[in-house]
Amino acid sequence: MTLEFQEKVAVVTGAGNGLGKAHALLLASRGAKVVVNDYGTSTHGEGNDQSAADLVVAEINNAGGTAVANYDSVEDGERLVETAISNFGRVDIVVNNAGFLRDTSFHKMTENDWSSIMNVHLNGSFRVARAAWPYMREQKFGRIVNTASAAGIYGNFGQVNYSAAKLALHGMTQALAIEGKSRNIHVNTVAPAAASRLTDTVISREQTKALRADLVSPIVGYLCHEDSTESGSLFEAGAGWFGKLRWERTEGKNLGNNITLEDIAANWGDITNFENATHPSDISTAFAAFGDVMSAAVGS
Ligand SMILES: NC(=O)c1ccc[n+]([C@@H]2O[C@H](COP(=O)([O-])OP(=O)(O)OC[C@H]3O[C@@H](n4cnc5c(N)ncnc54)[C@H](O)[C@@H]3O)[C@@H](O)[C@H]2O)c1
Repeated sequence: MTLEFQEKVAVVTGAGNGLGKAHALLLASRGAKVVVNDYGTSTHGEGNDQSAADLVVAEINNAGGTAVANYDSVEDGERLVETAISNFGRVDIVVNNAGFLRDTSFHKMTENDWSSIMNVHLNGSFRVARAAWPYMREQKFGRIVNTASAAGIYGNFGQVNYSAAKLALHGMTQALAIEGKSRNIHVNTVAPAAASRLTDTVISREQTKALRADLVSPIVGYLCHEDSTESGSLFEAGAGWFGKLRWERTEGKNLGNNITLEDIAANWGDITNFENATHPSDISTAFAAFGDVMSAAVGS
């Protein structure tokens, strides 16, 4: 069965280059009408050039698809959604992908290095999602994919700002997935790996061949499809490999209600032992671990 996006309207941010372009081309090739957003910045977030979005729109339209350009910054998220509404009358899919880097070691990181990264990755994704949300709620359908990074999941030298923004995006995904559930709005996070302008200096020519951006797009496309029931999840994707991540928690140990630092030290092995680990997937399951202790405390 072919997965198509007929009658669906997608907003793909940062779609003038790299991953966003690959996502936009894929969605359009499957019938989605696409708003190709791109502010046209450098990889450091400088400048503003409309040609990035224009070229992708031309490529989609020349191939028989339907796309319009939007040149606003994702920080003005409502304008991107307005472009979808005024041209196509609806918005079904948001792929939050736009971004740039301001890498520097933490001791040299300026306020601007921090806030510009928060603004484009986290606040930008928030603003586009917030603008699309009322339409998705009303039509009882929506799919949002947020773009994280291995730097957010695992941390990376020189990327304190970027790592923080990228993992925060998954926090947003998890909570939005809960809020969107009853309205058939599914929200997921993808942490990609792909050769692009952003990774030019860290990826070798050989790796570039394997790490094509379009090898990430199929999972983004699938998560945006109405057949996908997945929500609140985090995936890694690169070079044609796809995997899902989840939380893992040690069995842990209840140390009573009169606990010293020395008790923590003495029990460190048990507290950190993953032998009988569990995988709590929601907040009530997570809290159940101290349920007995809490009931005893409430009862006493
Ligand atoms: N390439 C990778 O391996 C990799 C790894 C992890 C995460 N990511 C993430 O994937 C996303 C895409 O990265 P890429 O490698 O394709 O980079 P890219 O530089 O090729 O494309 C990013 C696009 O976003 C646009 N953009 C930047 N700021 C914008 C703004 N304020 N509003 C609208 N558009 C804006 C740029 O003009 C650019 O066209 C980013 O969020 C990046 O952090 C990429």
